[in-house]
Amino acid sequence: MTELIGLGLERHEARWLVEEFVPGADLDAVPALHLAAQRRLNGEPLQYIIGHWPFRSLDLDVDTRVLIPRPETEELVDYALQELARVGAVAPVILDLGCGSGAIGLSLVFELRERGIAATLVCVDKSLDALSVAKRNAIKHQLHAVSFVESSWFNNVDHSLRGHIDLIVSNPPYVGEVEFETLDAVLRHEPLGALVAPSAQGVEGFSDLEEIIAEAPEWLTSTGVLICEHGNMHREVALQNAYDAGFSDVFDYDDLAGHPRILVARRS
Ligand SMILES: C[S@@+](CC[C@H](N)C(=O)[O-])C[C@H]1O[C@@H](n2cnc3c(N)ncnc32)[C@H](O)[C@@H]1O
Repeated sequence: MTELIGLGLERHEARWLVEEFVPGADLDAVPALHLAAQRRLNGEPLQYIIGHWPFRSLDLDVDTRVLIPRPETEELVDYALQELARVGAVAPVILDLGCGSGAIGLSLVFELRERGIAATLVCVDKSLDALSVAKRNAIKHQLHAVSFVESSWFNNVDHSLRGHIDLIVSNPPYVGEVEFETLDAVLRHEPLGALVAPSAQGVEGFSDLEEIIAEAPEWLTSTGVLICEHGNMHREVALQNAYDAGFSDVFDYDDLAGHPRILVARRS
């Protein structure tokens, strides 16, 4: 490990790599460790090198086809659980728009199951690659009541679900095209289509959120809830769009770093 730190790796990264690639101090695995260290030194995110990453209770497989699940998204799951408890959903139908690795939706199904609640989940992504990673994660954690739909937001979602969804969760792309150029180069390893969205209503990165907020009410039950992650500059416009779409109670929360991040929009 000291050698890896000497090469320029952070201590915690060196530890992750050693634990992953030299299990039980297997000396035959050392070349794999050096290869992994080199990839990290070349700027590749640790999560892709290791190939899996913890998100709440789940260990999710991740690779370059999906966004690396973020800590702030874990908070979104807390709000979702609170909202389902508030409306007393007994067998909730959940739609995860832009599921990526499946982080949000699969965590919800898993944690609801631990509470004795059997949820049904529909995972949507426009990327078939992302859907195959999400599918693998569902199998890995033996989550069965999950279906996968290739769709641009609501476009290919089964019409019979209209008015029957208890909870829509989404962490859509919300980084503006101009802002993206200013961000850390490490983000360039992640799929661009998972991060960057065009402007809408004169607000950078808002176009996917605009579409989701506008269309969500017709898919939700009368007590249904939409919960979306959004960018630092999106609080005002997200709240206004949610009211304009007909949601009656709308809240917006900071993440743990104190940045505006999570919209909770209740139909009633
Ligand atoms: C920010 S990532 C979120 C991934 C995952 N939900 C998470 O929180 O880690 C956004 C996801 O939305 C998907 N996406 C982008 N545009 C989409 C669209 N028009 N319709 C459906 N999914 C889309 C991307 O492929 C990506 O998987």
